[in-house]
Amino acid sequence: MQEKLSIHGAWTSRWIFILAATGSAVGLGNIWKFPYITGENGGGAFVLVYLVCILLVGIPIMVSEVLIGRRGRQSPINSMKDVAVESGHTSRWSLVGWVGALAGVMIFSFYSVVAGWVLYYVAGMGNGDFIDIGSEMAGKRFESLLGDPETLLIWHSAFVVMVMAVVAGGVNKGLERATRIMMPALFVLLFILLGYSMTTGAFGQGFDFLFHFDPSQLSWNAVLVALGHSFFTLSLGMGSIMAYGSYMPKKASIGGTVLMIALLDTLVALVAGLAIFPIVFANQLDPGAGPGLMFITLPVAFGQMPGGHIFGFLFFVLIAVAAWTSAISLMEPAVAWMVEKFGIKRVPACSILGLIVWTLGIACLGSFNFMADFKIAGMNFFDLMDFATANIMLPLGGLFIALFAGWKVKQTILKNELSLQNELWFYAWYVAIRYIAPVAVAAIFALNLYNKLA
Ligand code: PFF
Ligand code: NA
Repeated sequence: MQEKLSIHGAWTSRWIFILAATGSAVGLGNIWKFPYITGENGGGAFVLVYLVCILLVGIPIMVSEVLIGRRGRQSPINSMKDVAVESGHTSRWSLVGWVGALAGVMIFSFYSVVAGWVLYYVAGMGNGDFIDIGSEMAGKRFESLLGDPETLLIWHSAFVVMVMAVVAGGVNKGLERATRIMMPALFVLLFILLGYSMTTGAFGQGFDFLFHFDPSQLSWNAVLVALGHSFFTLSLGMGSIMAYGSYMPKKASIGGTVLMIALLDTLVALVAGLAIFPIVFANQLDPGAGPGLMFITLPVAFGQMPGGHIFGFLFFVLIAVAAWTSAISLMEPAVAWMVEKFGIKRVPACSILGLIVWTLGIACLGSFNFMADFKIAGMNFFDLMDFATANIMLPLGGLFIALFAGWKVKQTILKNELSLQNELWFYAWYVAIRYIAPVAVAAIFALNLYNKLA
């Protein structure tokens, strides 16, 4: 029997799927967000909770997304619809795909602004602008970047063009080709930097900070942040992984592949932490510096170290590559849907969507200058996009995907797609997706909203 394939194309191997999905997962979330939220939440205890969330919630939901995508073989909106109908349910389940595609556009708008900062730092490091820069100057430099909408616009625009150019190339000539080039580069850069941080003399201190478990530092808020981050970091709850799953070969095992992706994403976050914190400690800087950790603290550290500007340059190139491969996956669900719905080519679909995300991005970058006064519930537009997606739309999307896979999709479909030799694995996943993941997400989601609004 001829295997049903997506009209958009298919990955040429199981390994390409693993690398592409890892490219989606590994991004600003690992290298920018994870170290600073770990710093803000006290280190080791936070890391442990985060790992538990990945294992009990993230991995089972990722299995569901890949499964639904591969069964539906279309954009998440249409895959959700078809798999629902195939299981005898209403086509309105496509709404989950809709919310996801919208979340992708919203995440992109602020992701692109931060990626734009990264590009600016790539150029600055390349120029030697940060050699011997002190804390005060580094802070000023970051502040004046944020206060300058024109510079922000240039780099934001550059990033939108970079991403859309790849997505416009399609699954094989765009996504897959980018994966083949960028993922090996990413791993090489990461290990060069890890090696460098091992020579700083504060490696043990950095290691301790990440892995020393002190339960007294555990707060409810840390649990909330950890859960939200486990969705964000694995690209879950919005259809990116579902879209990538729709291009996956039928014979590849879903369980094994997903474990590999989650493992790689987690390793990159931990290695990024191990590369960053020793540098921070070696230079007597503050690990809890917040979002500026990467843009203020690190340039100071690099500026003081022998050869630091070269490694600083490589570091920001690494982050730019990671952000690039993630942003591609943010756009894929919406682009695939437009191609299916309107029968248009990728280039016009990407142009239209590019224009939309570019415009939304202007409101995000304006939050630091000309739109600083625009606030809803105390949040500027940038924070609003971050909060609405990471804390509401992704957990909600993940919750509904778990409920759908666990309670609505026919068991024959699940077993057929997972084709696990060992029944025990199937039931472990089934319990996690029916009970553990929905209950955990619902409880923490409710607490999260309550904490924010109360
Ligand atoms: N996983 C990416 C990161 O950790 O930076 C962010 C992301 C990409 C979130 C794609 C959601 C998504 F669909
Ligand atoms: Na990630």
